[in-house]
Amino acid sequence: GSRNSGGGAAAGKDDGKIVMGFSQVGAESGWRTANTKSVQDSAREAGIELKFSDAQQKQENQIKAIRTFISQKVDIIAFSPVVESGWDTVLKEAKDAGIPVILTDRAVDSPDKTLYKTFIGSDFVVEGTKAGEWVKKEFASAAGPVNMVELQGNTGAAPAIDRKEGFASVLGSDPKFKMLASQPGDFTRVKGKEVMEAFLRANKDIDLLYAHNDDMGLGAIEAIEAAGKKPGVDIKIVTVDAVKDGMQALADGKINFIVECSPLLGPQLMELAKKVVAGETVPERVLTEETTFTQEQAKAALPDRKY
Ligand code: AHR
Repeated sequence: GSRNSGGGAAAGKDDGKIVMGFSQVGAESGWRTANTKSVQDSAREAGIELKFSDAQQKQENQIKAIRTFISQKVDIIAFSPVVESGWDTVLKEAKDAGIPVILTDRAVDSPDKTLYKTFIGSDFVVEGTKAGEWVKKEFASAAGPVNMVELQGNTGAAPAIDRKEGFASVLGSDPKFKMLASQPGDFTRVKGKEVMEAFLRANKDIDLLYAHNDDMGLGAIEAIEAAGKKPGVDIKIVTVDAVKDGMQALADGKINFIVECSPLLGPQLMELAKKVVAGETVPERVLTEETTFTQEQAKAALPDRKY
C-alpha cells in the first residue's frame, strides 16, 4: 500500500502491504549480486512489495529512481549510494514528501542526519584495518621494502574511501611498506585485470596486492598469471568480501587472506523498514557482523558458502 491513498493512516493502502523502493548500485560484483538476491528474497519473505531499480553504477540513475519512488508515493525508500557525496537535494525531496529513507551498505556524507532514518552495513574502515594488520604480520620478518599496489573501488564510494583509509592507518606511517601505485578498479573483474596489467608493466617488483574486493583481485590474478608470475606466491594478495569465487581462490592459494564483508543485509533491512513505517524508533546505525578468512578457514567454509 503506497502512502497518502486516503484515510490518513501511514502505509495506508487497503491491503496494508508496505511498498519499498530500492535503488541498487548495479551488478558490478559477486557481492552485489548476492546483496540483490538477499534484498529481493527477504522482501518476499517479509511480505513487502519491492520496486527494484538497478542504477548501473551511475548516481544520476539512482537520483532518477529515487524521484520516481517519490512520485509513486512508496512507503519507504532504501538505497545503496554508489558514491558518498551529492545526495542532499534528493534526500530532502523524499523527506519533504514524508517518505522515510534507509541507507543500506554504503553511507552518504550529508551532514544532515535527519535525511535518513538509519544506516545498515559494514564498517569499511575496520575492514581496511584488518587487511593492513594481516599484511603487517605476513611481512613481519621481511627486511623490506615491501612493495605494494592497491586496487580501489569506484572513485568516491564509501567502501573505496574507507578501505583505503583503514589500510593506510596501519601501514602508512611504516617506511618498510611502500605503496607503489593505487588506482580505481571500480569493483569489477575486468577493470581489476586491466589496472593490474598496467601495474605490472610499470613495476618490476611487486610483493603485495591489496584489492578492495574479491572481483578485482580475481581479475588481477589473471593479469599476474599472464605475466608469468604466481599469484599468492610471487605476489601476495589480500582482498575484501569473501564471495564464493574469492574463497575458492583463497583455498587454491592464489589469494592469501580475505576480510569478510557480508552482503546479506536483506532480512535486517526488512525488519528495520517495518519498524520505520510503523513509526517506531530504530538505531541510527546498524553494524554488520563479519570475520576474516585464512586459506584453512576458507577451505572449511567453502562447502556451506551460499554466495
Ligand atoms: O559496498 C560494498 C562493496 O560493493 C563490495 O565490497 C564490493 O564488492 C561491491 O561492489
